Amino acid sequence: MKITKIKGTLDFTGNEAVKYRYIEKTCTNIAKKFGFSEIITPIIEQTDCFVRATGEASDIVQKEMYTFLDRGERSITLRPEETACVMRHFVENKKYANPGLTKYYYFGPMFRYERPQAGRYRQFTQLGVECYGNENPLMDADIINMAWQMLSSIGVDNLKICINTIGGKESRAKYQVALKEYFADKLDELCPDCKVRYQKNPLRMLDCKVDSGLEIMANAPKIKDYLEDCDKEYFDTILTYLDALGLKYEISERMVRGLDYYTNDVFEIIYDNPKSQLNGLAVCAGGRYNDMGAEFDGPTIQAIGFAMGVERLMAIMDEAENTDYLEQNDSITVITLGQNAKLAGVKLTNYLRKNNLHAEIDYAANSLKPQFKLSERMNARYIIIIGEDEIANQEMTIKDTVLKTETKIKCSELNKYFNIEGSIDYAY
Ligand code: HAM
Repeated sequence: MKITKIKGTLDFTGNEAVKYRYIEKTCTNIAKKFGFSEIITPIIEQTDCFVRATGEASDIVQKEMYTFLDRGERSITLRPEETACVMRHFVENKKYANPGLTKYYYFGPMFRYERPQAGRYRQFTQLGVECYGNENPLMDADIINMAWQMLSSIGVDNLKICINTIGGKESRAKYQVALKEYFADKLDELCPDCKVRYQKNPLRMLDCKVDSGLEIMANAPKIKDYLEDCDKEYFDTILTYLDALGLKYEISERMVRGLDYYTNDVFEIIYDNPKSQLNGLAVCAGGRYNDMGAEFDGPTIQAIGFAMGVERLMAIMDEAENTDYLEQNDSITVITLGQNAKLAGVKLTNYLRKNNLHAEIDYAANSLKPQFKLSERMNARYIIIIGEDEIANQEMTIKDTVLKTETKIKCSELNKYFNIEGSIDYAY
């Protein structure tokens, strides 16, 4: 049987791999500027880590986890998300004893047994942040601001911020009662999953992918009518700060998010391009989750974070023909003309590499076309051309594709041209 990659997974090579790393580098640099440091946690965790944190009624726990018994009969799960893992680490190591804010970012693979389709995979990568301590609406607004800056920096357009509040415990308790009353005589119209959600966590019904189009869903009670004053004030203040930061947003009254751990504000950044098959996909999602610490037998830990789907961003960049990731680098292609020049070219390439420059040569090709192709593939800034005459005169021709110049220099001027320090003058 032919061995192929597993359904819903992706391989990246060439420019795809460059794009993947470009997103990582651009976004993590921004996270560092906002004072976040990296956390790396295992890919496998005890299954309970996710059952407790994301909630038994969530789709992730019900249908999407890769769970297995290890050889010691322990239930292990490949992480479907990272928020629970970061909280597990924080409580396990009593990091809450440290005063002030703790800010982590992460980048790595997650696993969900979902139906593969455009922008939805079984192994995908999340770039995320989690911030603990000191609840303040200004922080919530600034976290959304950071996500927006990351997305702008990688050059993804047609995005919109959708935000809602699901209130604190008391607001949610009142709202749950209202939802139960409302749906009590409408259960027959709902999908089997929603019947279960009605019993376990009625809020989850609002998030149902099957029933979302039903009129009874549109007419369901809205959380804003059940918010305690403090929750309403917290949310309104976030909106004021978003305005002050110049961020546009839409209030999505029915957004509850697919995970049970959220409290108060929840948000998603959605790809808004009706012409695209990726239209409506969330590229980033998050919110506040102050009750998760207690699920790990820790104290109440004020927490907020978000995660972005890297493969979704890559798919959107492809569709928009965004090539920002192909940054011009300072690499050099050495091109040779004539039979005797190849060896001289290899020696020159070797010299440049020894001096910490990225230089490449086509070892085999003598004609120009394939040699220029190599330069295109490398997106090289410099092209050095050497032929028999150049060798005889101890010269080389250097094209700078950024400054669009072509200069003939003596070999003895090579060090100066590339700022090579402390070496003897080059000669063929
Ligand atoms: P989530 O909404 O489940 O939230 O996922 C966050 C992002 O990961 C989504 O917006 C999407 O871009 C990407 N994503 C999710 N599932 C897939 C998939 N099957 N294929 C491709 N991309 C996907 C969380 O995971 C929370 N942990 C976010 C968070 C962090 N909340 C607080 N802190």
